[in-house]
Amino acid sequence: MNDALLTLRDVHVRFPAKRNWHGKAVEHVHALNGLDLTINDGETLGVVGESGCGKSTLSQVLMGMLAPSQGECVRARSPGSWLANGMQMVFQDPLSSLDPRLPVWRTITEPVWLQGHGSETERRALAYELATLVGIRHEYLDRLPHAFSGGQRQRIAIARALSAQPDIILLDEPTSALDISVQAQILNLLVMLQRQRKLTYVLISHNISVIRHMSDRVAVMYLGQIVELGTAHNVLNQPRHPYTRLLLDSVPRIDKPLLQQAGETIKTGELPSNRRLPQGCFFRERCPYASAECGQHQLLTPLNETDGVRCWRAVGGL
Ligand SMILES: Nc1ncnc2c1ncn2[C@@H]1O[C@H](COP(=O)(O)OP(=O)(O)O)[C@@H](O)[C@H]1O
Ligand SMILES: [Mg+2]
Repeated sequence: MNDALLTLRDVHVRFPAKRNWHGKAVEHVHALNGLDLTINDGETLGVVGESGCGKSTLSQVLMGMLAPSQGECVRARSPGSWLANGMQMVFQDPLSSLDPRLPVWRTITEPVWLQGHGSETERRALAYELATLVGIRHEYLDRLPHAFSGGQRQRIAIARALSAQPDIILLDEPTSALDISVQAQILNLLVMLQRQRKLTYVLISHNISVIRHMSDRVAVMYLGQIVELGTAHNVLNQPRHPYTRLLLDSVPRIDKPLLQQAGETIKTGELPSNRRLPQGCFFRERCPYASAECGQHQLLTPLNETDGVRCWRAVGGL
């Protein structure tokens, strides 16, 4: 269980935000700012944080779609799949991720087809097998995506991801677009598939109850850094970082800007811009406990074998 599959070391991602007359970037968006993370074989790692904290940028780096401006993303061993990185992704909105013109059986086996694997008969047989696995009836496989409900489309997207035999699946808000009753069915399907196929999941969500239901470990992101990382039990039941506490207190509305729902615990002021990063602790300006020591750069510091936090007070048990 604790074999590392993927390791991110000090990953930074900057996007040009403003260019001068010569086209040279004079201002940057700092989307990821020194991210260290290991993804272990067979686990579900939940990633939470407010909108804009860098979750999607992280998933693009993990997928190899975006090269870090600094730092590295290393695959620990070669994937047991013919995919270059052994990874597939399932997105929030299944309709936008499925080709509207392709019959579903072709969509499901598209990754295989793109790699030039298998005859048409073999790919059809694979589509049947995966449809059974995810609960799509065979007689529907010649239909187009718009003929299906949201939940069925997400089942199709999951089957498509599985066709490539990935060992890691990145789930970016996989149930956020679905009705509550359907959400649970899709989450249970994902749990079943993980057991059956020994999959590793990286689950990105702003929904804490989804994270709690699914995750072995949880990473909490703020302004492109991980501010707290640990077993789901510890992070969700005994959060140590003031930001994690705030995030859990504001459940289930963490997709709204925190300042709009602030109790007396948050100081007023702007959400720090990721164009000019704050000195020291990134959360300092909004932290109810901020003091002079918080002007120092904070590191994600291990507390024990599984947990770590990026806050000197929390490290000291304060
Ligand atoms: N291609 C891009 N160009 C410029 N800025 C970007 C780009 N992609 C993301 N950003 C910025 O990077 C920050 C992190 O974005 P993102 O990773 O999408 O966050 P999240 O998924 O947590 O909402 C945001 O400030 C966003 O505006
Ligand atoms: Mg996003």
